[in-house]
Order: sequence, then C-alpha cells, then structure tokens
Amino acid sequence: MANSAKLISERANFQRALHGWYRVHHRKLPWRDAPSLYKTVVSEFMLQQTQVATVLPYFARWLTELPDFPTLAAASEAKVTKLWEGLGYYSRARNLHRLAQAVAKMPVPPRTPAAWRELPGIGPYTAAAITSISFSEPAAVVDGNVVRILARLTAEGRLFRDGTEAVKFFTPLADALVIGSDPGEHNQAMMELGATVCLRQTPLCLVCPVAEFCAGRKSGEPESFPRLKPKQIEQRSVTRIWCEHGGKLLLRRGHAKARRLAGLHELPEASDLGLESPDKKSLLAVKRRAITRFQITESIYRVKPTVVLFKRIAKNSALEWVPLKHLDQVTLSGPHKRWISELR
Ligand code: ADE
Repeated sequence: MANSAKLISERANFQRALHGWYRVHHRKLPWRDAPSLYKTVVSEFMLQQTQVATVLPYFARWLTELPDFPTLAAASEAKVTKLWEGLGYYSRARNLHRLAQAVAKMPVPPRTPAAWRELPGIGPYTAAAITSISFSEPAAVVDGNVVRILARLTAEGRLFRDGTEAVKFFTPLADALVIGSDPGEHNQAMMELGATVCLRQTPLCLVCPVAEFCAGRKSGEPESFPRLKPKQIEQRSVTRIWCEHGGKLLLRRGHAKARRLAGLHELPEASDLGLESPDKKSLLAVKRRAITRFQITESIYRVKPTVVLFKRIAKNSALEWVPLKHLDQVTLSGPHKRWISELR
C-alpha cells in the first residue's frame, strides 16, 4: 500500500515519463490512424483475447467490408461470422453485430462507461477503453497487462487467486493514475508498455520509461510480480470423425444458441454418429487445442459411410454434407479449418 501511495504522489512525473515515451515509441496501428468511435469499438472487440499481429488483417478486411455502424447493423449474420472466421471466441462477433444494431438506432452513441456497459459484449475493460479513447472519460483499462505493470511498480507481494481478483485489486490504483491526464493516451500508453516493454517473462527494464518509479525493479526480481496461483489445467479428449463420400465431407454445425460454436462448422464427434470406438487402424491424426482452462486432445478417425451410418446422418439435422470444393463457403472453427486443409 505504501508503494501505491508513493506512486500516486508522483503521478504527474509518472505520466510525463510514460506519455512522452508513448508519443515517440508507439506502434503505428490502423485503429490509431485517424481514430473514430467505430474503429475503436471494432479494434477493442477484436483485441479481447487476441494479439495485435493476429488482429491486423482481420481489422483491415472488416473496415473495407463493414466501414461503419449502419453497414454493420444491416449486414447478415453469415457475413459477420465469415469475416470473423479464424479469430475465435465468436460470441464477440455476434455481440459486436448486436451492439451496432443498438447504436445505429440511437440519436447519438453513449459517452460514459456506465452507459456503454449496457450494450452487448461490453465489460469494464472495453467500456473504459472506448470511452477514454473516444470521449476522454477518465476510466482506466485494467487487464492482465496493466495488472502486471502495477504489480511491478508497487512490488505487490500478495498472492492472487486468479486474474479477476488481481484486476479488482488494482483497479483503484489504475483509476488514480489516470487523473489529470489525457485518459485515452494514458490507457493506450499503459497497454503499449505492457505489450512491448513490461513483458511477462523478460521485462525490458533497461529501456523502460518508468523504471525510476518501479519498486519491482528495485527488488531485483521484477518478473516475480504479480504473484498468481497457478491455473488448474484440465485434460479432455474427443473422438472426431472424417467421413467423406462422393467428394463431400461430413461436418457438424454448432447450435445457433451455443456460446462458442454458434453457426460454426467442425468435424463431427463419434457420438454424433452413434459410433462408440472407431477402429484404431483408421486413425488419421491426433491434434491438440486449448480452450480456456481445457487442454483438448482430438483424435480424428476416417470412417467409411455405411447404410446404417447414412440413416443416422440423415436423422441428425446438425450434420451436413459439404462439397470439399466449397468448404470455403461454410465457416469453420480456426483449428478445424487448419486441420481439414492439412488432412485433405
Ligand atoms: N489491446 C486492447 N486494446 C488495445 C489497443 N487499443 N491497442 C493495442 N492493444 C490493445
């Protein structure tokens, strides 16, 4: 606590050092060029759980196809999902679509974090990012990057149960550090410092603009902050089926209400076809993917369609035969898109 009070008392100098560095060293990113509310909103949705380098080509395509709120509001769900294909966490795309429909109906978009929080897909981070950048609202963004910076600046020694608890703990300090600055610039400077200097494993203290304010650096072990309990990883395994017939591949469409896979196609699971344990000799590939805290092993078996299987397939409305030539016309989940193109 003493360290955070000291940091707040040095706020003006801290901001001067941080912002001066940001103005010179920030990455030139497309949502920072001629910023608009729309670009800020789209980029913040895409950047949730996804790295800048991955987002760049998606952002460019999105802005060309859907340049503003009214165009996005009027677009079909299929178009929105297709433009998002490969970015993952598809509920973000659906929420962004619904948000555009809500904003397009308003005389003017809301300006405060509380009003933005009422819109689909907006949590405290996104509300603070959007309103600080677009309307200079003094709300601090606090995510894993900002937690890391603040835990190091203050050499905070407590052990956090998880990231959520750490975010809650550091929010008052983050909010206190915004005061008296340009909040949009301050938040982006914090994001930039976390992404390019105050790195998780190897903090680059030698080039850090705020090293002189950092108790973690003085401790000699900045990388040991924040202290977080290790995540419990759970292993799961799934049996997938590769079933091809007459130039078509069997796929399963995620239920429209499914949180993660709504409308997305993947290879079917053995249970979708009433298959218990496919013949080990027909194993095509073993693949791994991580979803939140699950480490999932997917074993893919080639199965020839039999008369019995054709009947079961016909009865299951989630299953679809898709011509291999036209696979690009359905939206596949990122990992399945990669695996299918590898296995063809
Ligand atoms: N991560 C979240 N928002 C960001 C932004 N505006 N710039 C860079 N990285 C971000």
